Amino acid sequence: MRRAVITAVGAYLPEKRLTNADLEKLVETSDEWIVERTGIRERRILGRGKGSAYMAIKAAEEALRKRGLPAEEIDLVIVATVTPEHPFPATANIVANAIGAHRAWGFDLEAACSSFLYGLSIAADSIAAGRVERALVIGSDKMSSIIDYRDRATCVLFGDGAGAVLLEPTTEDVGVMDYLHQADGSGCAYLHMKAGGSVLPPSVRTVRERLHYVYQEGRQVFKHAVVQMAAVSEALMQKHGLTAEDIAFFVPHQANRRIIEAAAERLRFPMEKVMINIERYGNTTSATLPLCLYDYESQLKKGDNLILATFGGGFTWGALWLRWGY
Ligand code: UT7
Repeated sequence: MRRAVITAVGAYLPEKRLTNADLEKLVETSDEWIVERTGIRERRILGRGKGSAYMAIKAAEEALRKRGLPAEEIDLVIVATVTPEHPFPATANIVANAIGAHRAWGFDLEAACSSFLYGLSIAADSIAAGRVERALVIGSDKMSSIIDYRDRATCVLFGDGAGAVLLEPTTEDVGVMDYLHQADGSGCAYLHMKAGGSVLPPSVRTVRERLHYVYQEGRQVFKHAVVQMAAVSEALMQKHGLTAEDIAFFVPHQANRRIIEAAAERLRFPMEKVMINIERYGNTTSATLPLCLYDYESQLKKGDNLILATFGGGFTWGALWLRWGY
């Protein structure tokens, strides 16, 4: 049976750190509140003049370098992002050109925080079907470009970063085994950006009214995130007769440490089996899952079962069973 397997992981994190102490100077908040309510201590910030393509290129180049694969071997580039370089063309096209993936086709995939997992699923299916040999799936978000640093409820949560995975075909019993994804558009009310799209294009009024930023009703999102991320992971595991003992690591989207802990508890995963790096990067949206794989790469062995899970705006959510390939 032909499947897609991850053969390399790359990452890019901007050097500039935004700490809780820095945020205390911007809004009415405290290190204590942020750590207790979110688990975040600092995030990375890309700064002006560079966008999500810059970080995606760096992450993709590292993945290719680690595998020793020339970019011309890549057939498909998917960039998962809610903060594309431009509204169009796709950031994926800019990235493919910059890294020298001149044979590749590609596109951006936007499903809020679930973008990376959905992109990984689509790329894996294309490889399994024999349509594509090698694909790069890159999650890259410059969240600082859409965060209102006057809104204490959102500005403490998000950071910038990128992670990339290289996917190749295999006939071994490893790789992307299965996934279950879901969406519910009624969740739009609780997490969205009001202006900048076709219904409310940018204008002096939309800028003046600060409508180009992330709007979130945190409590609603929190509740749904815990329930759905656990339920979809449970359903996927049940479908394949997997229990928590069979899983080496649970890899959840990093939005809030309390969401991660509550979902892990429902799934009966001890915290030492849960990948977590939110403390250092905050919520990097499309980059959280590949950044987890990158940070824990040295702890993974061939054949390890991982359950990746996500929840985000839309609402979108899902889980993917991955068997590590190296
Ligand atoms: O990745 C996309 C998906 N996003 C998520 O999964 C995020 C989900 N939501 C959350 O993580 C949490 O809901 C938040 C971290 C956003 C908020 O935590 P919470 O425990 O749900 O707090 P809350 O919104 O219920 O607010 C509690 C209090 C409020 O004050 P009052 O009304 O009780 O006086 C807020 O104004 O905390 C206040 N508050 C803050 N205080 C200090 C909100 N943000 C801050 C802050 N510093 N940064």
